[in-house]
Amino acid sequence: MPSSSNPEIVIRAATPADAPVCGQICYDAFSKISADHGYPCDFPAPEPAIATLAMMFSHPHFYCVVAESSGRIVGSNCLDERSMIAGIGPITIDPATQNHGVGRKLMQAVMDRGRERHPAGMRLVQAAYHNRSLSLYTALGFDVREPLSCVQGRTRERHISGCEVRAAHAGDLDACNALSRRVHGFDRGVELAEAIQHGGARVVERDGRITGYASALAYWGHATAESNLDIEALLASVESFDGPGVLVPSRNSALLRWCLVNGLKVVQPMTLMTMGLYNDPAGAWFPSVLF
Ligand SMILES: CC(C)(COP(=O)(O)OP(=O)(O)OC[C@H]1O[C@@H](n2cnc3c(N)ncnc32)[C@H](O)[C@@H]1OP(=O)(O)O)[C@@H](O)C(=O)NCCC(=O)NCCS
Repeated sequence: MPSSSNPEIVIRAATPADAPVCGQICYDAFSKISADHGYPCDFPAPEPAIATLAMMFSHPHFYCVVAESSGRIVGSNCLDERSMIAGIGPITIDPATQNHGVGRKLMQAVMDRGRERHPAGMRLVQAAYHNRSLSLYTALGFDVREPLSCVQGRTRERHISGCEVRAAHAGDLDACNALSRRVHGFDRGVELAEAIQHGGARVVERDGRITGYASALAYWGHATAESNLDIEALLASVESFDGPGVLVPSRNSALLRWCLVNGLKVVQPMTLMTMGLYNDPAGAWFPSVLF
């Protein structure tokens, strides 16, 4: 139905030159939906949104699309193709054009690509307060998988006894990937290698063995570990989390309670949604804002 109601919408591949327009739309869309619900915007200003999309639009392992109406860009969406599970987002539509079927078309475009190349599954993280995105993703076949709490702050406890946290280096990749396969059934080695190169990744060791890692202690970083203790050590190793916060699975009550006792504040509720392969993680973890 949306296709016939919006015959003029054209979906095409995004190019780096589209980033300034799409980044501004991304900022406008998130600031409006967040302000409407009394939450802070995911991006503090248009520039970080433009920089994020410029990175994704030029990345060889991201498939990115824009929607045009009468030659004017009205929205964009991205598919992270760095692992056997594809991650979707950020999808944003010009606020003046929302609720007219453009979001569905941009979702369909990346899902078609995902089904062709990443049949194991696709995932995304959704702002839990947003009725429209929840409805759209559910209608398209995504299942609500995990409630998340975006938390921010500086933990009172600054070190977890028995856990040593240090910067990750390339030599840690095999151990981290093996850990991820044990916990999740797949690894995110390409993403982790990039994070190590950029300098944001950390590992935690107990008894001289890697028991957890974080690609970044940030909104866009994920972490995987043997136990809550390892995640706590990673969270305690930084002064704050880059971006709005990190996404703690709310059903991991022990970990969320530890965060609260340690003074972290909940910024907003979010939801991990998945399609296709999903194993209940056999360990502790938190997803990035992509999945
Ligand atoms: C979320 C967003 C991408 C969706 O794009 P859109 O063009 O507005 O959405 P569409 O019109 O294509 O689809 C919305 C669907 O939700 C349905 N819907 C909207 N509100 C609903 C509600 N309260 N209950 C049930 N269904 C609802 C619409 O009827 C439509 O369904 P259909 O596709 O079956 O016709 C867009 O609104 C946006 O940019 N929002 C701000 C940024 C954001 O939140 N991005 C997502 C981050 S997870």
